[in-house]
Amino acid sequence: MNYDDFADLYDHQYDLYRDDLHLYGTLADRASGPILEIGSGTGRVTAYLTRRGADVTGLEPSAGMIRHAQQRAERDGLTLQIVQGDMRTFQLPERYPLVIAPFNALMHLYTPNEQLQALQNIRAHLQPGGQFVFDLSVPRYGAANTMRHEGETFHANGARTDVFLVQRHDEVKQGIVTEYHVDTTAPDGTLKRRHYTLTQRYYTRYEVEWLLRCAGFESPRVTGSFQGGPLDTFSDVMVFHTRRKD
Ligand SMILES: C[S@@+](CC[C@H](N)C(=O)[O-])C[C@H]1O[C@@H](n2cnc3c(N)ncnc32)[C@H](O)[C@@H]1O
Repeated sequence: MNYDDFADLYDHQYDLYRDDLHLYGTLADRASGPILEIGSGTGRVTAYLTRRGADVTGLEPSAGMIRHAQQRAERDGLTLQIVQGDMRTFQLPERYPLVIAPFNALMHLYTPNEQLQALQNIRAHLQPGGQFVFDLSVPRYGAANTMRHEGETFHANGARTDVFLVQRHDEVKQGIVTEYHVDTTAPDGTLKRRHYTLTQRYYTRYEVEWLLRCAGFESPRVTGSFQGGPLDTFSDVMVFHTRRKD
């Protein structure tokens, strides 16, 4: 899944998403060394942690997302460490006490082989006993095949941009395909529509627990919120806290 086309839209959509920042910030404060963030995107979490004084390196495959992260950091007077790479195959010399994968980064692993490859590679980059924390959406999606307005309207240079999406749910492949229709209306009324497709693979809680065990991690602590509440039928996220097993 290549996020290059998304980079512009992504910042607009998720810049204000802050639900997870306190958790990852607290973990970073307690870490006894440098931190690796998998799928760092446009640096939403990377910038937050860097600003708090953490020594964090982002790993991100999309050149477009990295460019956006660096441009925004420059505007804010921050220096971000971001490495271009894929979580399945990256190789860094450092061994980290903490690796994080915020906001569904693992949903871009589509087959069991890809999932194991990435998890084993992440494990190889952890110090013995090192911590791996990540969050995934609970697989509960809105009406399928129905066009929805995302509730986002951006205004820039007199133009108005509206985001619409339609989702298809493939229960057999545990896949969610989201088609974004991004409509920009210029001041003279001219309409330009851009179209993007986002493909994600969702997980169930116990599937993740088995994957982690198979990849050499301890049995995880799973919460249903970033504040540590239990995973229950009302939870929107599953947060996994695990450690490298030696
Ligand atoms: C939903 S975004 C999350 C971005 C960022 N972590 C945040 O919280 O805003 C998922 C990110 O994972 C990245 N990604 C997709 N496939 C990846 C892979 N194989 N290895 C590492 N990152 C990947 C995407 O490029 C994208 O930036």
